[in-house]
Amino acid sequence: MRILVTGGAGYIGSHAVRALTQAGHEPVVLDNLVYGHAEIVEQVLKVPLASGQLGDRPMLDALLRGQHPCLQGTNMEAKPIEAVIHFAAYAYVGESVSDPAKYYRNNLGDTLTLLEVMLAMAKEQEKFPIPIVFSSTCATYGPPKQIPMTEDHEQNPINPYGQSKLMVEKLLIDFASAYQLPSVIFRYFNAAGADPSADIGEDHDPETHLIPRVLDAMSGREPYLQIFGDDYPTPDGTCIRDYIHVSDLADAHVLGLERIWRLQEKEEIISKPLIYNLGNGTGYSVQQVIETAKKVTGRGLLAHVAKRRDGDPAQLVASSIKAHQELGWRPRYPDLETILAHAWAWHQKRHS
Ligand code: UFG
Repeated sequence: MRILVTGGAGYIGSHAVRALTQAGHEPVVLDNLVYGHAEIVEQVLKVPLASGQLGDRPMLDALLRGQHPCLQGTNMEAKPIEAVIHFAAYAYVGESVSDPAKYYRNNLGDTLTLLEVMLAMAKEQEKFPIPIVFSSTCATYGPPKQIPMTEDHEQNPINPYGQSKLMVEKLLIDFASAYQLPSVIFRYFNAAGADPSADIGEDHDPETHLIPRVLDAMSGREPYLQIFGDDYPTPDGTCIRDYIHVSDLADAHVLGLERIWRLQEKEEIISKPLIYNLGNGTGYSVQQVIETAKKVTGRGLLAHVAKRRDGDPAQLVASSIKAHQELGWRPRYPDLETILAHAWAWHQKRHS
């Protein structure tokens, strides 16, 4: 299948492109390259790349028709796109608080444009709209009421980033019901690790995530690690998260699309999004991540306890039973040591 991957030059998007290619699909990436890496798409993943803003209607139209210049001379030229996987979004929680307009414009406004172009195309072709898989987040839940969190947990996001993702979820619910736009919504917990080949991985600038920061401190790229709070109501006082391997997240996207296609083959009307949490169901504290990283890398680090970071809940752990049951999704790399070993291999290669 020909699949448009928005944000495919980013961390999770690039791993999804790899999973799609390995499953025999043909991805094309759209990315504004503000945080994404063009060379990963062009030289490592070797798939077509359209550089541009998601809200650019004529460009989206050309891409969905297979008429974008980046598709010239490829197998995808002049053939319509058959599904969209939508990662493109800004994802810095702190920045979303100081500059919410940026988040609502990009994450919400531009997504609405994408959906409108998809609907217009379907109308013109007198077909049902093509399916979309949307990257949502556990940040849409807000403070946890119970652990592990299931998909029906109440959603009260506490920052504009989570709010912008929740608003897109609402759009997808309404668009499925009104226009039969089929969708899958994945709520990721903490994406971590890197492809086992170590040729793609996490590379954010600025980097805010725990695991790359731990590795930065261990490799000497940073002088020390700050632990944001050690007085949480958890066994060792540091925050607990559910770390899920990015390649496992990527696999779920292929399975989500396959489920939609199976339902469509059976001519089932998909009047609501299929919604799944993606996590391992096991929580690790910041302290446990550090200890495991020491074991995996054989390195030490300097860690200072700093004050709590605003908006960090003490504990976030997913129940992903629904994805196991309905999609047959089984994480291949559930243990933290493997996740850290893959992250470390990539980190050493990227920063050597
Ligand atoms: N942490 C530190 N020091 C650091 C970085 C992080 O102690 O240098 C701690 C955080 O306080 C938190 C844990 O490590 O307790 C994990 O932090 P990350 O920044 O790696 O991940 P988050 O849990 O904050 O973020 C993830 C996703 C976001 C999403 C959020 C929802 O990456 O996209 O969950 O809470 F919004």
